[in-house]
Order: sequence, then structure tokens, then C-alpha cells
Amino acid sequence: MRFLRVALLPAILALPWRPAQGQGAAPVSPQVYEGWRQYSVHCARCHGQDVLGNPVTANLLESAAPGGAVADEGAFTAVVMQGRPDKGMPAFHDQLTGEQAAAVFAYVSGRAAGAVPAGRPRPADT
Ligand code: HEC
Repeated sequence: MRFLRVALLPAILALPWRPAQGQGAAPVSPQVYEGWRQYSVHCARCHGQDVLGNPVTANLLESAAPGGAVADEGAFTAVVMQGRPDKGMPAFHDQLTGEQAAAVFAYVSGRAAGAVPAGRPRPADT
């Protein structure tokens, strides 16, 4: 694991700085905005900021896209709430309400469908 981290470091440092692309884009619903907030707090460290992925976890842009393994909200939410402890996916039933989990699904599926751009989304009411 230590070797992996050392080996990956130059690649991570070489990533180009990415400006917040959401700023000029169409506003998102309050639910999607809340989903982005919850995702950033709870999920981004493993699934990547802006759902852009991480080589060692499931790529949610593929999994939540139409036809993906968790494209269905029920399937997505079941994994989020119960986790897959044996595979490194924690359970979030103690940390997210059903409403927050639904917001995370709205955000992630919006990203997967290409409807929500990367970056901090602009909420509709600002
Ligand atoms: C500690 C790291 C970690 C965190 C934090 C985490 N995940 Fe995961 N997640 C994983 C791993 C690893 C997998 C792959 C599990 C497997 O191989 O089945 C996964 C799988 C998933 C899957 C299933 C994808 C598929 O293709 O079957 C979903 C959905 C998911 N995560 C959503 C989330 C959401 C939403 C959050 C935040 C609320 C989150 N995860 C937080 C590590 C994490």
C-alpha cells in the first residue's frame, strides 16, 4: 500500500488544476445542490471529487448512468445505506437521512447523465 501511494504520487501531483466549471452553467435544483454538498462531505474522498472517479473504487459515473449497476435509485440507495463492508464500501444509514441519500442520488445520477457539470453547482435560487 505504501509503495502504491509513493508510485501514484507523481501522477496525482501532475493532475492539472481544474477551475470550478459549474459557475457559469445552468442552475441546479435545491435537491441536486444538497446532494453535491452531502457527496462532497461523505463520498468524494473515495469516489473522487465531482464523481470524477478514483482507480480503486467503483466509478459512479458509469455505475449510476442509464444501464449501469446502480442506475436504479433503489439499488443505489441500498448500497449507500447498507454499504458493502466486505468490499470497502461503508454503510451510511447512521449518517444520512433518506432525504439526504435521495439528494446524493439526484446529484450523482445527474453527473452520470451529463446533466450536472463538474465543479460547485450553482443553486437555482441564487
Ligand atoms: C471508504 C471509501 C468509500 C466511501 C467513503 C464511499 N464509498 Fe462507495 N464504494 C467504495 C468501494 C470500495 C466500492 C466498491 C465496492 C465493490 O467492489 O462492490 C463502492 C461502491 C459504491 C457503490 C456501488 C457501485 C457499483 O457499481 O456497484 C455505490 C452506489 C456507492 N459506492 C456510493 C457511495 C456514496 C453515495 C457514498 C457517499 C455517501 C460512498 N459510496 C462513499 C468505497 C467508498
